[in-house]
Formats: sequence, C-alpha cells, structure tokens
Amino acid sequence: MKIACLGGGPAGLYSAISIKLRDATHDVTVFERNRPDDTFGWGVVFSNETFDNIASNDPASAQAIREHFAYWDDIAVHYRGERIVSTGHGFSGIARKTLLLLLQERASELGAKLRFQTEIASAGELAKEYDFVIAADGLNSKTRNEFAHAFKPAIDTRKNKFVWLGTRQRFDDAFTFIFEETEHGWVWAHAYQFNADTATFIVECSETVWRKFGFATMSQDESCRTCERIFERYLGGHRLMSNATHLRGSAWLNFPRVLCDTWSHENIVLMGDAAATAHFSVGSGTKLAMESAIAMADYLASEPTLQAAFAKYEDARRTEVLRLQSAARNSLEWFEDVERYLHLDPVQFNYSLLTRSQRISHENLRLRDRDWLEGAEAWFQRLAGAGDNTIRRPMFAPFRLRDMRLKNRIVVSPMAQYKAVDGCPTDWHLVHYGERAKGGAALVCTEMTCVSPEGRITPGCTGMYAPEHERAWTRIVDFVHAETDAKICCQLGHSGAKGSTQLGWEEMDAPLKSGNWPVMAPSPVTWSERNQRARAMTRADMDRVREEFVVAAEMAARAGFDMLEIHCAHGYLLSSFITPLTNWRTDNYGGSLQNRMRYPLEIFQAVRGVWPAAKPISVRISANDWVGAEGIEPRDAVGIGRMLQEAGVDICDVSAGQTSVKARPVYGRMFQTPFSDRIRNEIGMATMAVGNIYEPDHVNSILMAGRADLVCLARPHLANPYWTLHAAARLGDRGEAWPPPYYAGRDQLYRLAGSGEPPAGAV
Ligand SMILES: Cc1cc2nc3c(=O)[nH]c(=O)nc-3n(C[C@H](O)[C@H](O)[C@H](O)COP(=O)(O)OP(=O)(O)OC[C@H]3O[C@@H](n4cnc5c(N)ncnc54)[C@H](O)[C@@H]3O)c2cc1C
Ligand SMILES: Cc1cc2nc3c(=O)[nH]c(=O)nc-3n(C[C@H](O)[C@H](O)[C@H](O)COP(=O)(O)O)c2cc1C
Repeated sequence: MKIACLGGGPAGLYSAISIKLRDATHDVTVFERNRPDDTFGWGVVFSNETFDNIASNDPASAQAIREHFAYWDDIAVHYRGERIVSTGHGFSGIARKTLLLLLQERASELGAKLRFQTEIASAGELAKEYDFVIAADGLNSKTRNEFAHAFKPAIDTRKNKFVWLGTRQRFDDAFTFIFEETEHGWVWAHAYQFNADTATFIVECSETVWRKFGFATMSQDESCRTCERIFERYLGGHRLMSNATHLRGSAWLNFPRVLCDTWSHENIVLMGDAAATAHFSVGSGTKLAMESAIAMADYLASEPTLQAAFAKYEDARRTEVLRLQSAARNSLEWFEDVERYLHLDPVQFNYSLLTRSQRISHENLRLRDRDWLEGAEAWFQRLAGAGDNTIRRPMFAPFRLRDMRLKNRIVVSPMAQYKAVDGCPTDWHLVHYGERAKGGAALVCTEMTCVSPEGRITPGCTGMYAPEHERAWTRIVDFVHAETDAKICCQLGHSGAKGSTQLGWEEMDAPLKSGNWPVMAPSPVTWSERNQRARAMTRADMDRVREEFVVAAEMAARAGFDMLEIHCAHGYLLSSFITPLTNWRTDNYGGSLQNRMRYPLEIFQAVRGVWPAAKPISVRISANDWVGAEGIEPRDAVGIGRMLQEAGVDICDVSAGQTSVKARPVYGRMFQTPFSDRIRNEIGMATMAVGNIYEPDHVNSILMAGRADLVCLARPHLANPYWTLHAAARLGDRGEAWPPPYYAGRDQLYRLAGSGEPPAGAV
C-alpha cells in the first residue's frame, strides 16, 4: 500500500515506524515542512507507566529513547517561601529534538522515506496519489480545516497564557512547580530537566496578569528577560531561552483544546494533536500521538479494509483519548482557577496540585510517598483538633459546627423514604435512621420533612406539622442519642410546584392518580406538561409558609435534633424562588439573584430566630440548573453562597439540578464536588459535597484537597448503612467505635479485610 504521513512530528514518524514494522512491503513516505533538526519547544515528559506500551511496540526505538532519558521521581512545589517535595512519581524527560532525530533514524532504517522541507498544501490532493494519508500535521492542522465539514472540529481556546522556554539552570532533582507572587499577580513555572544541561521552563499566568506585564507587545527576548526577573531566585543566574522562531511576537500562547466528531474521512485519518490535544500540564500529548500511531498500524494490519481499520482505530482510541482529555481538562482548569487556592496552607495547596487531574487518588499518593502523605494527614488532623500525633485518613477527622461536634466527616445524605402515614414517621423510620446512626456516619440527615400537608412531595413524605409527628421524631432522635454517638439533622422543606406527586418507586414527579392537592410556587409554573399549574404565591401565602417553617423548627428543637437543614434545592418551593427558570415575579422577590434569594433568606432568618443558638443550620442548594446561562450556573452559586454566609448559615450543602425537566447534567464521579470547591474556596464558607461519591478514596481526596468540609453519601447508605464502619475496616483504621453488641462481627470483618489486628478489646 502507498502511505503518506503528513507531518514529521511524533505521530507521523511513529506511524511510519509502526506500519513498517508490521508490513515492510508498505511504501511509506513522511512529509515534513521543516528541516530534520529544526524544532520548536524543548523537552517532553513521559511518566514511567506510559512508556511500556511504546517499548513493546518497538523495543529498538524505545531503547534508543531510553538512553537519552533524564529520570526523576520527585515533584517539588515552591509556594509561599516553602519548597515541598513528594516522591514516587516516576517521570522521564527527553529533548523533543532528540526524540524526533531518533524516530527519524529508526523510520529510515525500516525503509520509510523522509521528505523534509516539503510543505503539503492540501491533504486532499495528497490523498489522490496515495492509498492512505495519515494527517499528523499538529495542533494547527490544515487537514482538519480542509475537511472541517467531515471532522467537525471544536476548538476551545483556554484562558491562561503560557510560553515554552528553556534554561541551563538545573532542575534535575525534581519536576518543579514555582508559584511567584509579583507586583501584577501570580505567575508560575513548570520546570523539568530533559538532558544533561537543559531544562524546560514553561511560564504560565492569567491573561490579566499577562496584560499588566505588557507581554503582549514584548519581543521574545524582552519576554525572556522579564520572566528571568520574576523567577530570579530560582534560576541561579542562568538565562531563559526561547527557540520559537516559527512564532511571531512574544511567543506566548493560549492552549487550544481540540476535539473532533470523527477522525477519518475517505482515505485520510487524523492523528496526534491534529485530532485531539491534552494539556501540557499532564504531559501526555506525545504519548497520545505515539499510542494512536500504534493502534492505527495494528488495525491496518489486522483489518480487511481501510474503512474497517479506521472504524476500529476510532473505537479503540476515542475512549482512551477522551479519558486523558478529561484528566487534562481537570488539570488545566485547576491552573486557570489557581488563584482560588492561593490562600491554602502549603500542605493542602500541594495536595490539591498533585490530585488536580483526579487521576491520582489518595491511596495512590500513599503508594508513591507514604511519609509525605502521612505528614499531610497529620496536618489535617491537627487542624481538625484531633491532637498532635494523630495520623488517620481525613474522613476520620472530627468537625465542629457551633457546639455540635461530629466524630468524622461522613454524612448520611437526606433521602425520602415515602413510608410516612399522614406525615407521621413510622417504625420504618425508627429502624432506618437508627441503623444508619449505628453505621458509623457522624451525621444522619432526615429526608425532606415537610412543613405542611400540602407542602409534602408525596403522600408518603414525613412532616413536622402535627403533635404526633413531633412525638414520632422525638422517639427516633432519642434512640440515636441513647444508642449511638451520631448526630441527627432534620431537613425541612416545602414541595412547591413539585408537590402532589407519586411515591419515589411509582412514577417519580408524576401527579397522583387521584386525590391531588393544589400546589403553589413563586410563579404560575408547571413542573412538566403533566403536572398541575401552581398558584403564584401571594404575600399572605408567603407569610403563612414562613410561619409553618418556624413552627416546624420549634418542633424539631423540642424533638432534640442536633441540626437543621433548610431544603433550598432540587426545584422544591424555596429552590424555585432562587432559580430564574421558575421565578418570574416582578415584585421584590423576582428579577435579580438578590431578589430571588430574599424569600429563602427570610425563611432562614425566621427559623434561626427560634432555633437554639448552639445548634447549626445548613442550607442545601442546587448549584447548577444544568441548562446553561438561562438558569443557575456555578458562578451564581458562589453569589448564593455569599448571601447565605452573610445571613449566618453555618454550612452550605452543595447539590445540583432537579430544577427543570430541560436539565442536561454532566454526570461522573464526584460530579458536583467542583461546585462545593468553588464556594468553599472563593468565599471561605464551610461546605458539604454530594453526588456520586462512593469510595473512601473519593472522600479522602475531597477533604484533604479542601474541596469540602463534610461529605454526604446517599445511595451508598441505602445499600449499606454501615458504609463508614466497613470503610474503616477495609482501610485498617481502628479508631471508629462499633456498637458493643456487634464486636464479634467487627473483629471478623477486620480479620477478613486483612487489615491487621482488630481494635483493642476484640474477642
Ligand atoms: C508547552 C508545551 C509543552 C508540552 N509538553 C509535553 C510533554 O511534556 N509531554 C508530551 O508528551 N507532550 C507535550 N506537549 C505536546 C506535544 O508537543 C504534542 O502533543 C506532540 O508533539 C504531538 O505530536 P504530533 O505529531 O501530533 O504533532 P507535532 O509534534 O506538532 O508535529 C506536527 C508536524 O507536522 C508538520 N507539519 C504541519 N503542517 C505541515 C504541512 N502542511 N506540510 C508538512 N509538514 C507539516 C509540522 O512542522 C510538525 O513537525 C507539549 C506541548 C506544548 C505546547
Ligand atoms: C431515594 C432518594 C431519596 C432522596 N431524597 C432526598 C431528600 O429528601 N432531600 C434531599 O435533599 N435530597 C434527596 N435525595 C438526593 C440525595 O440526598 C443526594 O443528593 C443524591 O442522591 C446524590 O448523592 P448520591 O450520589 O450519594 O446518591 C434523594 C436521593 C435518593 C436516592
């Protein structure tokens, strides 16, 4: 077959090598517009684990590359006058130029033809002469543009500015991040050694800071001199150098995140940066390009037709590429938002940096560097008031809100049971909440408990509006306090336009088959076409509902609850005041976010007035309506958090969605945690994170990185009331108390988990 590789970067050259290795009879030509040893950029990094695949594809080129690797194990972070080092990260670096020269040599040796200084004007024209064209023409791929109608590229130009420089200063002991506060704001560098005498030195900052420095109008030389001044303390008198002769101006760039709908068109396939980019801060662009080259060569050899090979190539590579792009997006967003974290203690800042892509988990960090992680865990426990010598996972650190002391950071998230009779909790609730309180979570939150019969979501919802409700709740709270050391929080709410609907396991949010009651909301909205239209609330309605909240709070106080949560999320009454999707009022309660928050805040103030001063109140919000700019977006949630904080709310329970049938949520592990992170770190308010958090590792990394103070788990607690105690056994933590009648079960669990000796007093 006659094959053209358009572009002599890693993707094009490694494609030529991999194809020739599988079938030497293919006629392969690489076209490169530059000369063989012309190259921009400095070094590239590979992580140790990513090189194995490349080594088994072609041991010869891998060996040659390895001989030129600079290795290092440590990551050093310079921040606020400290240098924090963690180890076990296992990276290697090589000069981009050396890598390309080695690949060129190997490709020639295998019989590929290399045509340098040959600019290809059109991949379409090339494709007429060749059976197959691999378009590996890089980030600014002309091929991608030529066939944009087929590839449908989406290019997201990111906010930060960066410049790729080199230096003779040695950074050979660690991959080094340097964060410097300057007269114009923060600027940081990513530095790593890639051969005996040169290191890559990428400088990055926000566009605002870049403008204030005047980088936009500087020459490359002036830009280097300015960066030298910024990082003078770390450069030991060495210069910063630019080799970006192909770029005009100061050579600063914005990173373009490239995604394409499809990677093949007729006999042309896109590869490497032309098809998809991964941010330099996860150092995987070259690996992605080379691994895609391997996959394409494999399928070219194994599949009967070119089209079948393309289909397999896309199928196999797309998931892997998306996985890396998603990690890369997390990482680049962390750098874009870094100013949010610049108040953190160096220990927490370092942890946040190391876990930014969400690829490295808490326990994975322990495998890399146990000493460093234990130091960080001890710091966390000390800060939480657990004493000076405690080394335990962050999930087992105490927490205090007003006078309420929680033994750990796990919360049973509110979950409707739909088992109440006329609003009254039954024995189901006693057993359900009792079990979860015995199961090790520090705080058990009740389901949404409604302040009036018509404020219920379904006929099975619990209430707090009749004396028998108060008695039934008192029995539950008394059990929790007498038999466990968990605390219990009552979630109070009103259903609004989402009321008068079927039980959760019937048809959720659908109207009752019979016996519907009228519903009200800020505006005359319907939850869906099938639900009844709500009556717009009058001021008298608002006064009445406020009084109902007050009466319910008084009953909850008498029942002995340790905490209250006001439900302002998920499209129920108070949430429907906050989101513009359902609040079209023209009075003081509609319009601006401040106006839309007025009624929920009025309720909070009224409830706070009757709730014991020693006990905390939380507010649950939907931090994202998932409908784009028409609804609440995470940045609005920061504004909501700020108003709650100013009003004296103790902690914000940061949920999202369920406010509109039009919502298009983006699910994933811990998918709502970024909203909690943002509120906590932008305004300094305590938060609870919730949503698809199900592993102890998730909880520990969220807490240790400062993305939340408490972590709510809902579905995991339906499946296992003993989630926390089981997590402790699995992790070999012996500090969580079990109910004495269960000691024998506890001891067996610890033995079976192989997590060392059972706790003291074990049978
Ligand atoms: C600041 C920075 C740091 C990075 N750090 C790392 C790192 O540490 N680790 C890592 O793995 N990756 C890193 N990368 C990414 C890495 O450089 C790319 O992902 C990788 O080079 C992609 O390879 P490629 O072959 O697809 O494209 P390129 O390397 O861009 O190669 C494309 C080639 O095609 C040629 N070409 C383009 N158009 C034509 C034409 N019309 N005719 C002929 N030739 C043409 C170009 O001259 C070029 O040589 C970094 C990127 C940046 C910007
Ligand atoms: C059966 C069930 C009932 C729920 N009821 C409530 C509720 O009454 N109040 C509330 O705020 N959230 C409620 N939720 C939402 C959960 O508290 C939580 O936010 C959501 O399930 C995401 O967490 P998870 O991924 O850990 O399940 C409910 C969730 C489930 C699964």
